[in-house]
Amino acid sequence: MNSNDCYLTSCSEGINILYVLGMEIKSMYICICRAVTDKDIRAALEEGACTMRELRQRLGVCSDCGKCGPHARKLLIEHRELQPVSIDLIVQPA
Ligand code: FES
Repeated sequence: MNSNDCYLTSCSEGINILYVLGMEIKSMYICICRAVTDKDIRAALEEGACTMRELRQRLGVCSDCGKCGPHARKLLIEHRELQPVSIDLIVQPA
């Protein structure tokens, strides 16, 4: 990959746009204090973080002003809702 294959730019709304091999991948800052994007949070969730405490420990979200809390929590809830339900958790009728 050469330097033209991947670059990062920002638009006026504060949304970062990452171009990789001509494809546009957008990310948005969720935590301004710690410069954490939605992609950072989603990556932490994919790596096993499953509580706000774990997101705070891994990324620092909600460690300063706390304004990112509702947005980070929304991503956490969305991630939980997308997880498959274990067959062990399905209750069979008696
Ligand atoms: S925006 Fe996340 S702690 Fe301030």
